[in-house]
Amino acid sequence: MTTQEEQTRSDLCFPPGFSFGAATSAYQIEGAVTEDGRGVSIWDTFTKTPGRVLNGHHGDVAMDHYHRFAEDVAIMAELGLTAYRFSVSWPRIQPTGSGAINQKGLDFYRRLTDELLEHGIDPWLTLYHWDLPQALEDQGGWPDRDTAYRFADYAAAVHEALKDRVHTWSTVNEPWCAAFLGYASGEHAPGRREPQNAIRGAHHLNLAHGLAVQAMNARRVGGCVNLYAVTPETDSERDLDAARRIDGLQNRFFLDALLTGRYPEDVLADLRMEPEDFIQPGDMKTIGAPIDVLLVNYYSRFTVSGAPGGKASAAAAPTDSASPWVGSEHVSFVDGGRPVTAMGWEIDEAGLVEVLTRVMRDYPPIAMVVSENGAAFDDVLTDGRVHDRERRAYVEAHLGACKEAIEAGVPLEGYFAWSLMDNFEWAWGYGKRFGLVHVDFETQERLLKDSALWYAEIIRQNRPHEPTDS
Ligand code: FCB
Repeated sequence: MTTQEEQTRSDLCFPPGFSFGAATSAYQIEGAVTEDGRGVSIWDTFTKTPGRVLNGHHGDVAMDHYHRFAEDVAIMAELGLTAYRFSVSWPRIQPTGSGAINQKGLDFYRRLTDELLEHGIDPWLTLYHWDLPQALEDQGGWPDRDTAYRFADYAAAVHEALKDRVHTWSTVNEPWCAAFLGYASGEHAPGRREPQNAIRGAHHLNLAHGLAVQAMNARRVGGCVNLYAVTPETDSERDLDAARRIDGLQNRFFLDALLTGRYPEDVLADLRMEPEDFIQPGDMKTIGAPIDVLLVNYYSRFTVSGAPGGKASAAAAPTDSASPWVGSEHVSFVDGGRPVTAMGWEIDEAGLVEVLTRVMRDYPPIAMVVSENGAAFDDVLTDGRVHDRERRAYVEAHLGACKEAIEAGVPLEGYFAWSLMDNFEWAWGYGKRFGLVHVDFETQERLLKDSALWYAEIIRQNRPHEPTDS
């Protein structure tokens, strides 16, 4: 080991109890879409609609995790993960999104959580990572208020069945994406391009979060947001306004709602909708109900401009799509001059420090975890190894940012790498690999990339009985 590497390791020495995890989501890895009574989700429908997903890829088999979960948990144990964040597929539990519970669906998550607990891995359960039962979409989807109530029923049923095994519950993964990519840009399922309905959807996703928190009354519950650092291109009034708008819709709309029970006035004005059109009395109190932990997904920084004619989003979508930036469609996304991942997302670990300290500074005290962070690169498999130096560097830099945030006083309790393994990356199909573990999409063979081996070493160094030499 070089001196530089030793140095890095002592830099990455975290407080006792800090969780080292990895994250996945149901549709991206499970496969088995027609097995054991699972119903159809909006992603099943969307992926089978020509032109929606690159190369017509779909999650019918995905990483076959439904059958291989024991092997996957063994890999987690080999890495030394102390926590694993996964999501439950709503249509496995309620095939049409309401009514009777499908026991076989619940049984899968019982088996998975048992396996995790047997290996000393703390299961972090997310109730919704975008796979809405198609039957609910047919009745209006997230723009329909009733969907939020259906979600609370579903949450209560899953909680009742798994509360003895799962300590940390989280509700909706990245409501911004579910609302604005699903119902405004159309890049994600259900692929609608109805800006006003995207706003209703966003509110109902927040309401679903609040209703589920109430319905579960869980020991430890969190909400999950995807936060970006946002910088204006220049100090011009136009660019400052652009930054205010994008920060507003991406970050503050959700943070303010979940953590203070209010929507920011300026964002409501940007949206050009009367709040009474979609907010009912009592909603904001429900949405702002206390939570125990904020799950922060962080990938990148946006540099924005109010000048017309620029790029409508930070990185090109693989399929035809409209703007997700409802009410701020004129804002353009400019090159911030940083290196990018294979997604075209700029790499900026300082942005992670910025978003975490910002939550600490601007909101009531709340524990946080980085619940997703990682990068796609064009991996090459040679002689049974994937030398993914860039991914390792990305994770290392962002773990360093976590450390810096902790030193600045942020109550940060863990880090979950996105993703445990290569998987179905939404509109990009199997075209982008985010895993620490390489998956051969033909044979389903799993292989630890260099980044995984490095992460395992960092985790090992942080174990209480093996103090680092720092
Ligand atoms: C996040 C999603 C996750 C994955 C990563 C790359 O927005 O939550 O499912 O696609 O991006």
